[in-house]
Amino acid sequence: MTEFKPLVFSGVQPTGNLHLGNYLGAIRKFVALQENNDCIYCVVDMHALTAQLVHEDMATQIRSITAAFLAAGIDPEKHIVFNQSQVPQHAELAWIFNCVARIGWMNRMTQFKDKAGKDREQASLGLYAYPSLMAADILVYRATHVPVGDDQKQHLELARDIAMKFNMDFHDKIVPTGLGIDIKVGEEPVHAYFPMVEPLIDGPAPRVMSLKDGTKKMSKSDPSDLSRINLMDDQDAISKKIRKAKTDPDALPSEVDGLKGRPEADNLVGIFAALADRSKEDVLIEFGGQQFSVFKPALIDLAVNVLAPINAEMRRLMEDPGHIDAVLRDGSARARVRAEKTMNEVRDIIGFVR
Ligand code: TYM
Repeated sequence: MTEFKPLVFSGVQPTGNLHLGNYLGAIRKFVALQENNDCIYCVVDMHALTAQLVHEDMATQIRSITAAFLAAGIDPEKHIVFNQSQVPQHAELAWIFNCVARIGWMNRMTQFKDKAGKDREQASLGLYAYPSLMAADILVYRATHVPVGDDQKQHLELARDIAMKFNMDFHDKIVPTGLGIDIKVGEEPVHAYFPMVEPLIDGPAPRVMSLKDGTKKMSKSDPSDLSRINLMDDQDAISKKIRKAKTDPDALPSEVDGLKGRPEADNLVGIFAALADRSKEDVLIEFGGQQFSVFKPALIDLAVNVLAPINAEMRRLMEDPGHIDAVLRDGSARARVRAEKTMNEVRDIIGFVR
């Protein structure tokens, strides 16, 4: 059975400050994956228009995410780092996917429901179609693996549904042109043009929670800055936020089972484990039986050690926007070549004259 060549793709929106959730759920995994994979990392600026059209600081935000990628350790020469709007093939494939995806599928997207809120009539059409553009981001490179936080899981399932329907609906066109590849879907061998993307959500912190409420996701939009650690926070801010983080009065358990029903403790242990590249089990072997008065200072030290160099490098890079723009232009040019190859094949499969 032929398989798709493994290719990693992921994206981050240039909206608001990056926080520890983005770093542990996504960017830190991006860095680790480049060791053994071909990777494409994208600043998804067109997605940023879906919730709010006008952004006074769009360019700065795009550069800041790019700076975070580079400062965290992504190599833009070995891999590809670019911004979505410089590769128009994403939008072109998204249109085709808008015609593949069914309205019933889109209506099930919980993130649309959350983001649109009560006044759904006032949400943009782009917000509704957002997951279709996200599927196009990935599939325009026929990427196979997508590192993301847990909140993107449903969107990746939709990307699989879109890929599957395209493969099935155009099956008669794919097979004779030989453009597809044999893959296994469950037990079934299928001749497919698009791969079934695999989400990479594992690790000890797939969903980093608010420091103020362990039942709420850490998010850019939380009105309280104390709820999150921003990648641009300095040492004092990191230390203050962890000291003030909500906890319960008990000591840490010695086993992971003991974290059940203790969302704040679970969150802080998960953050520690992810920052130290250890498992939660391993962290609890060290800290089980200890009070938060012991654990929190250790977490502060660790967080500062990991984040301070990234923070400093981001600031340094942000002083040279010309360099960042050159990285994005170079990455975009390389991405366009790959995306255009896919689009030519998609145009042929569909039967567009070119
Ligand atoms: P975005 O920009 O909201 O978030 C970027 C990445 O950070 C992860 N993340 C978290 N992980 C753990 N805990 C948290 N509290 C947390 N908050 C955010 C997100 O899961 C994400 O991986 N739709 C995407 C961007 C996107 C994309 C793509 C991703 C567009 N096209 C194609 C992958 C592939 C988004 O809004 O992420």
